[in-house]
Amino acid sequence: MGDSMLSQNQMVDWLEGVIEAIHDGILVIDRSGTVQLINEEYTQITGVKRDQIIGKPLLQVRPSAKLPQVLKDGRAREGVFRKEKSMEYVVDMAPIIKDDEVVGAVSVCKSIPEVYQLSEELKRSRKRVQQLKQAFGRIHQSTYTFSHIIGQNKDLLHMIERAKKAAATNLSILLTGESGTGKELVAQSIHHTSSRSSSPFVPVNCAAIPSALLESELFGYEKGAFTSSNEDGKSGLFELAHGGTLFLDEIGDMPVDLQSKLLRVLQEGTFRKIGGLEEQKVDVRIIAATNKDLPSMVANKKFREDLFYRINTIQLAIPPLRKRKDDIPAILTSLLKEQGNTNIQVAPQAMSTLHQYEWPGNIRELKNAVHYAISMCEGSTISVEHLPDTIRPTTGYRPTDRPRLLEDVLRDTEREVIVSVLNKTGTSVVGKKAAAKQLGISLASLYNKLSKLNIT
Ligand SMILES: Nc1ncnc2c1ncn2[C@@H]1O[C@H](COP(=O)(O)OP(=O)(O)O)[C@@H](O)[C@H]1O
Ligand SMILES: [Mg+2]
Repeated sequence: MGDSMLSQNQMVDWLEGVIEAIHDGILVIDRSGTVQLINEEYTQITGVKRDQIIGKPLLQVRPSAKLPQVLKDGRAREGVFRKEKSMEYVVDMAPIIKDDEVVGAVSVCKSIPEVYQLSEELKRSRKRVQQLKQAFGRIHQSTYTFSHIIGQNKDLLHMIERAKKAAATNLSILLTGESGTGKELVAQSIHHTSSRSSSPFVPVNCAAIPSALLESELFGYEKGAFTSSNEDGKSGLFELAHGGTLFLDEIGDMPVDLQSKLLRVLQEGTFRKIGGLEEQKVDVRIIAATNKDLPSMVANKKFREDLFYRINTIQLAIPPLRKRKDDIPAILTSLLKEQGNTNIQVAPQAMSTLHQYEWPGNIRELKNAVHYAISMCEGSTISVEHLPDTIRPTTGYRPTDRPRLLEDVLRDTEREVIVSVLNKTGTSVVGKKAAAKQLGISLASLYNKLSKLNIT
């Protein structure tokens, strides 16, 4: 051997240098499975430090390691995917063979290239976009703003003014009002006026989703959380609403155990998927709505008091239509315009019918009535007979009725009028006296009619 050859000791030093220079993580075990060597890159990729593992049985430090298998069967393996905590990497494994005997094994780990990680992230983003699209499919196509809220009623204008101020904050908002008064319209308007307008507005109707499903809808689940569930797991609405607004409609229908979970998210700003271990941060503005009397539900232990106070930071009460009937003409005009029917007029008598009605279904009912009337009227004037039966006065002759004997119409009308007056005055003698007076007939004549009409 000449001077130009390395001595054995020098060779060992060189090999160590080479191993350190390799850009993959390297781990070597001897035939007993004890770790003899790792390089710095191995520590970089796996997070395991030299003094934690050298000289120890590999399985003791890394219980799910596959390398000891190689000692047993002497087979090499390539591209085995490994995940330990948040570290993901790919491993090639090979036996070290001397004189036909397996004397050890080496594992070469490559951290997952950035490209691969990016492609995984892209996959996740695509999925999120798809789920967002589904969530958006559930709301009206149009995006409402305050300009869509029609009406000059004093209480309504005051509510809108407060809603605009609330929109500039991040506080939770509780919208109260009967069904059809425009709670969702106001919620959307707030979102679109807020700094969150370029992020999603995600509505969820707590009454429409079976309570067993509501939790997974809100929080999502990890893959394998349920045997029957989607293998890939699912993002919850909280995650989809990140950066934006979550509209919890009919919050009074949320089951009490879920109310506690919701409260936690609102307090901590974090949530956990079903079957998930990690808390996820989430930045969501909550707007809740209800047509129920939450304070009395709180008193009856049907609604958590602490959650009530948490969401009731700002309460906006939307007045029912019967308390702002003066707005009916303006809403009508806007509805007709929306339908492209600007040439259609509303006859004075139909207008007065619309004014007399109490509108339990509020603007939603008015909208439906107008759509119905538009489809019923052939000309350009909506008159009483074009309005739905439910909102027309119950007495009197209707042109659309089947022809009836005049006698029958008069008798029915007489009965309805008498009954409605007696309902107010009461049926005591004093009540009957008052009723007779209101009806402009004598008490005797009233008794006469009561017996003739079979009213008891
Ligand atoms: N002030 C208003 N002006 C015009 N349309 C309204 C107004 N309030 C409600 N609407 C319409 O009435 C319907 C019911 O409103 P919505 O927000 O769904 O009510 P809620 O959520 O209270 O049941 C929607 O079509 C909405 O656009
Ligand atoms: Mg609604």
